[in-house]
Amino acid sequence: MTVCAAYATPAALDAHVDAVLATLTPGFTLRKREACAVQNGYEPFGFLDGISQPVVDWAGVREPGHDALYTHLLAAGEVLLGYPNEYRCLTDRPLLDPVQAPQLPRARDDAARADLGRNGSYLVYRRLAQDVPLFWQTLSARAGGMTAAIELAEAMVGRGIDGQPIPALGTRAIPGAEPYDLNDFSFTGDMGGNICPVGAHIRRANPRNADLPSVPDGLLDKLLVTLGLTGNARDDAISSTRFHRILRRGRRFGAMLPPVEAARPGAADPQAGLHFIALQASISRQFEFIQGAWVASAKFAGLSGESDPLLGNRCPFPGAMPTDGFTRPGPDGSIEKHQLPQFVTVTAGGYFFLPGLRALAFIAGG
Ligand code: HEM
Repeated sequence: MTVCAAYATPAALDAHVDAVLATLTPGFTLRKREACAVQNGYEPFGFLDGISQPVVDWAGVREPGHDALYTHLLAAGEVLLGYPNEYRCLTDRPLLDPVQAPQLPRARDDAARADLGRNGSYLVYRRLAQDVPLFWQTLSARAGGMTAAIELAEAMVGRGIDGQPIPALGTRAIPGAEPYDLNDFSFTGDMGGNICPVGAHIRRANPRNADLPSVPDGLLDKLLVTLGLTGNARDDAISSTRFHRILRRGRRFGAMLPPVEAARPGAADPQAGLHFIALQASISRQFEFIQGAWVASAKFAGLSGESDPLLGNRCPFPGAMPTDGFTRPGPDGSIEKHQLPQFVTVTAGGYFFLPGLRALAFIAGG
């Protein structure tokens, strides 16, 4: 059993866990208790985190489909089970014999089955340890000083350290974003990654309007792209971002070490990291796709020999392509190539079914 609360203060969380544990004794033994820090919005490398999220379309104002423009609005069924997803279908979920579970609602797509999934979701948890001194010492040595190190780190993330989008991307009035908020941008004017590197973390994790890559304005061209009759291999690989969105609810553990202090040789490791939490209707189509096809893949959108500059595992299988590269455009139009060590290590993780209230009552009732 896992007791998890993403938003409580540490003291309130401890009290809650104690209360839950008291009800479980003596049936369960406590194996491990994870600490977490007060949520201040910043992850341990020092970047503002948790900014870009899909906006769940609870009211159903948008018809799911291949939009001509990138949007943050996402069909409720991408996050919540039992509702139409971006394919306009209901995602697979546990259905039961209604005789066993008469109190559960019938499935909307199969009236002969009771829906144990309705209003539930799937949760991915990963404990991600971050080597903060290694991160800042590497970048400061490569870039030759802290100002340039922060610029390099911002290119690796794809945002400013304070969460600002790279200014030259401009605002784009993205549906679902408040005008001029931190999420109101796309890569329309930067398909080649000359402003925000193609391999930056935010571009790998959500390529945004690569959904309709290199699309001219004409109706016929849009139709051809929509029907899949044009485009190239790179475009195909990063298309259809709306099927691969996740709701993230990360929480930091360990103390914050400011970049300037972390960059000093011999800086003590604060043993910090993220309790990464993602919610989605399909773990394989959403979290695992992002992780496998975009973040961890040594080939992505025309890049090769690289993986996510923050998260990448730098130990490829024997004979496989290296994964430690990071390419970014230099100030004079040149291309800078960097070799990066491994900054993040997965130290624990799990997949969980998060039942809705009726399903929880059913499960608890035996
Ligand atoms: C220690 C590990 C990680 C760190 C330090 C990190 C850091 C960040 C930062 C600073 C941002 C930009 C701010 C924002 O939009 O919230 C971001 C965005 C994002 N990250 Fe991570 N992240 C980590 C792990 C992951 C993992 C494991 C995934 C999924 C496989 C992931 C998926 C995303 C997504 C989807 C976005 C939003 C991209 C967008 O829509 O612009 N991150 N992350």
